[in-house]
Amino acid sequence: MLEQGYTIAIDGPAAAGKGTISKAVATHFGFAHLDTGLLYRAVGRRVLQGEEAVSAAQSLTADELEPGDLRTAEIAQAASKVAVIPEVRSALLDFQRAFARRAGGAVLDGRDIGTVICPNADVKLFVTASPEVRAERRYLELAAKGTEISRDQVLADVKERDARDAERSTAPMKPADNAVLLDTSDLSIDAALARAIEIVEQNLPGA
Ligand code: CDP
Repeated sequence: MLEQGYTIAIDGPAAAGKGTISKAVATHFGFAHLDTGLLYRAVGRRVLQGEEAVSAAQSLTADELEPGDLRTAEIAQAASKVAVIPEVRSALLDFQRAFARRAGGAVLDGRDIGTVICPNADVKLFVTASPEVRAERRYLELAAKGTEISRDQVLADVKERDARDAERSTAPMKPADNAVLLDTSDLSIDAALARAIEIVEQNLPGA
């Protein structure tokens, strides 16, 4: 186990495959994994239930981060709307930074991990794919859960969220200067995972 915190930051636009890659990288290296999108989704869900966004973020608890109920198209949109509010972002900052520093290593995935949350991360990846490829992956994911939604609607949602995430003034989604870009448009899941693991291995201490 790594005595000191070792942090891997994985950012990228909606449905780029960050979740799958982050989980697999964490498992491969025995690190803990935090999907930071779940924090914004949990706040988004509370807002859909009528709560005010900033107080929801300030009182969020770990037991609200179960991915099962949070991965809906409606909550994704609500998440990206609360994510533009600076006070929401600052309320979620300490939790993410503490997670990143934990002994044994940590993988965090999101939009601003390499730029704002962990600017000193040991490895930074920015995972992308074309909007059409990402929308198709997300459509299949939602359809497998029985969600009734069209491909066109998923593509429109993905583009709308990308625009909001990239254009906000606080912590906009963008690759960190020293991030390695990984475009998965033409890669199978296995090939994308292999490439991500290779990038991390090249940066491990002693590599
Ligand atoms: O899984 P997907 O890529 O569709 O989204 P997610 O990672 O669960 O994030 C949902 C929304 O939360 C994003 O569209 C962002 O608006 C926001 N988010 C953010 O602003 N910063 C992060 N570090 C993670 C998510």
